[in-house]
Amino acid sequence: MKPIGIFDSGIGGLTVARAVSEAIPGHPIVYFGDTAHLPYGEKSAELIQHYSVRIARELLDLGCGSLVVACNSASSNALDAIRETAGPGIPVIDVVTPAVNWVSSKYDEGTIGVIGTRATIASGWYQSLLTHAGLTAQAKATPLLASAIEEGFQHGRVSSALIEAYLGQGAFDSVKAIILGCTHYPLIANQIAAQLPSHIELVDSAHVVAHALKLAIQEQLANQISAPASSSSLSTQRFLVSDLTESFALGAQRFYGSPIALQERKLTTAQD
Ligand code: DGL
Repeated sequence: MKPIGIFDSGIGGLTVARAVSEAIPGHPIVYFGDTAHLPYGEKSAELIQHYSVRIARELLDLGCGSLVVACNSASSNALDAIRETAGPGIPVIDVVTPAVNWVSSKYDEGTIGVIGTRATIASGWYQSLLTHAGLTAQAKATPLLASAIEEGFQHGRVSSALIEAYLGQGAFDSVKAIILGCTHYPLIANQIAAQLPSHIELVDSAHVVAHALKLAIQEQLANQISAPASSSSLSTQRFLVSDLTESFALGAQRFYGSPIALQERKLTTAQD
């Protein structure tokens, strides 16, 4: 069984890794957080593509047979380049399309909110997919939320003040749902919900992404039925980061939901 490669700019994508390990228990996983280069949300599309392609190559070199782009900023700005790097036969699952598909299967009209990093919102990809599905998009960049969560400001006055500043004063009252378009946000989903009118549904893409991956892997295995299954010498789960600091090591458990050990793996390819 080839491992699933999951990557994010940092440790926020561990919320997706957790959903994947619940949906496909026992499947080997290699997680890569590009902590040396986060936040992606403040980078140009070109730089996000450069970093994302490098990590995709690293995960493919480690023997991964599928990729999950567990970062909305990378999904919105680098998906074509990642798919080109992976080539045919390697499923690449992003975090944007499954969320929009899920929303459009539930709502056939009305306004859907999306919050995410500057790079995600500026790409316009959520907006264009929602519009294509016959929905109206109300998108807002909420750049301080991810760094506050990463710093451990959850369920307190700091995150509450940020949520109020970005989403308060009735700005989102007419939306039917809000997509949490950043893999950090599930950690404050309850607090966001508590500060919004109760009719607004919050959409955390982790589980729909895991479901889309499961289907893609099943299809991949069905297509390989006559080929010998490739084996992997990797241990069941590895959690790699390009720069390991104490704060990432401590934060990882909050995002994954249970204790995990991060290992540092420097990216060796030339050029930063
Ligand atoms: N986890 C990233 C995302 O989903 C946000 C963090 C960053 O800006 O690097 O977009």
